[in-house]
Formats: sequence, structure tokens, C-alpha cells
Amino acid sequence: MSIESVNITKEYVRRGKTFRAVDEVSISVPKGKITVVTGNSGSGKSTLLNILAGMIVPEGGTVRIDDTELLSLKSRERDKLRGKKIGIVPQVQSLIGGLTVRENIDLQKSFSGIAGNDGEEKLADYIKDLEIEDLLDVFPSSLSGGEMKRAAVVRAISGGHEYIFADEPTGELDPENASRIMDAFRKQADEGRGILLITHDSLVEERADILYRMEKGHLLN
Ligand SMILES: Nc1ncnc2c1ncn2[C@@H]1O[C@H](COP(=O)(O)OP(=O)(O)O)[C@@H](O)[C@H]1O
Ligand SMILES: [Mg+2]
Repeated sequence: MSIESVNITKEYVRRGKTFRAVDEVSISVPKGKITVVTGNSGSGKSTLLNILAGMIVPEGGTVRIDDTELLSLKSRERDKLRGKKIGIVPQVQSLIGGLTVRENIDLQKSFSGIAGNDGEEKLADYIKDLEIEDLLDVFPSSLSGGEMKRAAVVRAISGGHEYIFADEPTGELDPENASRIMDAFRKQADEGRGILLITHDSLVEERADILYRMEKGHLLN
């Protein structure tokens, strides 16, 4: 099982000129592996991730999530499928400000609606692995960038999803915390989940099972 695209293309218009942010990209994100896409800023990485997650609709190509053709679904059904299948760590701060870290995590768990999603015991492991024990009762506004990221990772992986997508998950982190996050993703992959990471951090690249590079919308092996 995998998430797979064939020849997806996404065009944007800038200063009256159309350009392809993603240009005929075919990629497979298999379960049980860490797939990493690297590339310069502006090369189309986030656009690609958002298409694979069904958040952006491309002009051309197909996307399949396991057995389902994503682009044949209505937008509501797409959102539902994403909610069920993919835990996402967005590039920007995404914790809800009025909720504590613990409440943010619990909310995600209840949203995913996955029967038998990761139980309390596993959640306790994730909290320990990513060292956010002391942050659970804290509101996001008083967390550092790195602490927010670690909390967002715990939130994404505790939902019991089959796939985890993360856009620059180690962006603002020191090597120690980046490594901790990569250990968590490795554990997830070993449990059979499909991991897709977008990055320009060499530490993340080194730990990829499958590594791609994007250049001006093209995906290179
Ligand atoms: N909604 C949009 N409208 C117009 N241009 C966009 C939009 N989103 C992204 N782009 C442009 O598409 C290109 C690829 O963006 P992005 O996928 O965010 O790259 P990356 O994640 O690799 O930095 C960039 O030139 C960016 O400015
Ligand atoms: Mg990006």
C-alpha cells in the first residue's frame, strides 16, 4: 500500500506569467519507509506535499491513496479521507492557541476518528521520546519554536494514521532535537507507517530510505 502520484502538474500565475510549481511529478510514498524530498526553497516541495495530501488540486495527473483515486472525490470526501489516512506536521506553527499542549493532542486524536487509534500507552511513549512531559499543561504561546515542533509531531503521530507527512519538521531545531524527531519517525516507519518528509536539513536526508530532490518543479531521483 502507498500514496502515489502519476504526472501531477500544478500551475501558478506570477506577474501575468504561468509557471509550473510542480511539473509532471510521479512519486510513491510506501508504507514502512521514510521518503524524503529535498530541494531549494521555491522548488515546489510544499506544493507537492499538499497535492499528495489532497489539500491542493493539480491541473493534471492522478493521486492514489491506497485503493482510492483522490481526485475523483468531492472536496469533502477528500478532506475526510485525508483526516483518516494522514497525520500532518505543517511547516508553520499549528497548535491551537487557546488549548494546552495536552488538549491539542487530545483534540487531534478525537478528530481523526480512527477506531483503535494509538492508545494512551503509546501516547505516553511519544511524549517521553520527544521530551514534552513538562509541556503538557502549557499553552503554545509560551513554547519555543522547537518545543512547538516537538508537540506538533506528537500530535500528528498519536492519531493512529497510516501515513505521516511533515513539511520541514526539523526547521528550527538544534541537532539533538532534530535527531529525536527523526528517531520518532523511524519508529513510526518500523511500525509500518508511510512517512513523507520535506526538508533541506542534511540530517534528515541522511536518514531517508528513499531520497528525491526537487528542482524547479521537477522531481529527480
Ligand atoms: N498559492 C500560490 N500562488 C502563486 N504561487 C505560489 C503559490 N504557492 C506557491 N507558489 C510558488 O510556487 C513555487 C513553489 O512553492 P513551494 O511549493 O512552497 O516551494 P518549496 O516548499 O520548495 O519552498 C514558489 O515559486 C512559490 O512562490
Ligand atoms: Mg515549503
